[in-house]
Order: sequence, then structure tokens, then C-alpha cells
Amino acid sequence: ELPARVRIYEVGARDGLQNEKTAVPTGVKAEFIHRLAAAGLATIEATSFVHPKWVPQLADAEALFPQLGDLAGSTRLPVLVPNERGLDRALALGARDVAVFASATESFARANLNRTVDEALAMFEPVVTRAKAAGARVRGYLSMCFGDPWEGPVPAAQVVAVSRRLTDMGCDELSLGDTIGVATPGQVTALLGDLTGAGIATDRIGVHFHDTYGQALSNTLAALRHGVTTVDASAGGLGGCPYAKSATGNLATEDLVWMLHGLGIDTGVDLARLTATSVWMAEQLGRPSPSRTVRALSHQ
Ligand code: HMG
Ligand code: MG
Repeated sequence: ELPARVRIYEVGARDGLQNEKTAVPTGVKAEFIHRLAAAGLATIEATSFVHPKWVPQLADAEALFPQLGDLAGSTRLPVLVPNERGLDRALALGARDVAVFASATESFARANLNRTVDEALAMFEPVVTRAKAAGARVRGYLSMCFGDPWEGPVPAAQVVAVSRRLTDMGCDELSLGDTIGVATPGQVTALLGDLTGAGIATDRIGVHFHDTYGQALSNTLAALRHGVTTVDASAGGLGGCPYAKSATGNLATEDLVWMLHGLGIDTGVDLARLTATSVWMAEQLGRPSPSRTVRALSHQ
């Protein structure tokens, strides 16, 4: 019933660090990503090629990405690109995996992208087409799949409609974002059922849970039972979203690995090395990791 192996899509260096108050030096980011790779994470979202004024924490993308060149052969290093300008910047540095990021709600599309949902999708269309023509893989994030801080609960039909538009556009994979961490497992199961019913194959779906209400692991288990095998997580539980109030950190990668290994599910991750990385990163940031597993294993 449960998968034998789960692909962890590590987002700490992007979703985590984009929300840090203090500027993290580029060299620290590069070391973080190298340590994550050494801990066995095979997909590590590295940064975003967005407007530097919108996300100043990731304004060093041009300086950071070339410092990861030695990893490119063995590690997938996706980057966020909102528009053609972002895609040009990413392709110029040799990025082979890019992600566009849509919203299921109008409020968040406006707050995050300064666009309506339709305008945002129109902005992504040439990005996806050109990225694929250049041989890159494209992920389509979909935020606010369960609840929205301005609009409340989000109807599944709205999520399914935007999901279809992203897959029709050519996105190889979808990532369903619970941006503010309000989902509960029954909702996850119901939405995945609706997506399957709309013809979107489960092997193209990843889940992206934030842990605001402590539901991320339960929601992950519900998704695994539905056949999902790609799970987004952030080392040490770093994270949030600067344009969504009340979004806290993502599901911590260590908490995820603890559960998966306990279930006998292979991840390829060395938990001790990963935990040591998050302890090191917490020292760089000057505050302890919020991950329960990191704290338990490091006696913090
Ligand atoms: P805009 O202000 O509407 O931009 O922002 P514009 O298209 O009108 O362009 C204005 C200026 O910005 C122009 O310069 C462009 O060249 C420049 P000017 O001609 O005035 O000198 N510009 C850029 N510069 C560098 N790189 C670019 C770029 N694009 C335009 N890519 C825009 C629209 C999309 C750019 C802006 O809203 C933006 O950058 N948003 C990014 C927000 C973001 O990164 N949010 C966090 C990631 S999403 C997330 O965390 C959720 C997720 O984790 C899933 C979940 O949890 O749900 C993925
Ligand atoms: Mg997120």
C-alpha cells in the first residue's frame, strides 16, 4: 500500500532561506546545499530568479548558482522562475530544472505575483514552452490548495482547474502547496481523488506541506497512501512565505525521514548527516531548529 521509495524534494535553501530576516551570506548558502547533497538529498531547490526587491534574501542567485557547478552531475538543482526574465537568468547559468509558481486563489496571485490567476498563467506559458525547448524539466507549484489567509477554505474544483491548466501547459510535475499549513488528512485524500478523477496521474504530483498547525506529517501519510511518491520538505523545518501571512516553516526533512525510515521506506538520506547540517545551519542563523527530530537527535 505504501511506496517502497520516496523522492524527497528539498526546499530549505529556497523556501526556507527566502523567509529569513537576516541576510545569509552566499558562501553559507553554498555550503548548506553541498552539505545537503552529501547527506543524500538528490533534488535540492537552490534559489529563485525572481525580482530582487520582492525577495531580497535570494537576490544573490547569480553569485550562488555557479558555486554549485560541481553538484550538477549528481544532484538536481531546481530554481524558481516567475517569468521569461527569470527563465533567461536561470538558463544563462545552465539551470536544467525550473519551477513556475501559480496560485489557486486570486488573493495570493495578487500578493505573490502582482497578477490575477489568469495573468499569472499567461505569464508562465512562454516560460514553460521555452524551458522545455531548452531541455529543462518544469515543475508547476500550486499555492493555497487547501486554505488561503484572505479567502478561507479553497474549493477543490478551483485547485483542480488550475492544476489542469499547468499540466496542459506542459509542466512535468505539480507540487500541491498548503502554503499556510491548514490542511488536514481528509482534505488531502479528497483533493488527490479529485485530481486523479480529472486525469492527472498521481506520479506527476508532489505534496508541499507547511507545518503551521502540526499536520504536515499526517497529511504526508495520507498522500503516500494515495500513491504520491514526491514529498517536499525543508531541512531543519526552515521556511515560510514572505507574501502569505501566517505561513511558517515547511515540513522538516528530518521529521519526514524519521517517519519514512520507520515505515521501511527508502529515501537515500543519511539522517545523522542531515541533522548535523541543520544544527550547523541553526548556528549560522542564531536560533535553534524548530524540527522535533533535529532537537531530539542533537539533544538541543
Ligand atoms: P512586477 O512588479 O509586476 O514586475 O512583479 P514587472 O513584470 O512589472 O517588471 C517590473 C520590473 O522588474 C522590470 O524592471 C523587470 O525587468 C523586473 P524595470 O523594467 O522596471 O527596470 N523584473 C525582474 N528582474 C529580475 N528577475 C526577474 C524579474 N521579473 C521582472 N525575474 C514578479 C512581478 C513576478 C517579477 C514579482 O511579483 C516577483 O518577483 N514575485 C516573486 C514572489 C516570490 O518569489 N514569492 C515566493 C515564492 S512562492 C512560495 O514561496 C510558495 C511555494 O513555496 C509553494 C507554497 O508553499 O504554496 C512555492
Ligand atoms: Mg512553500
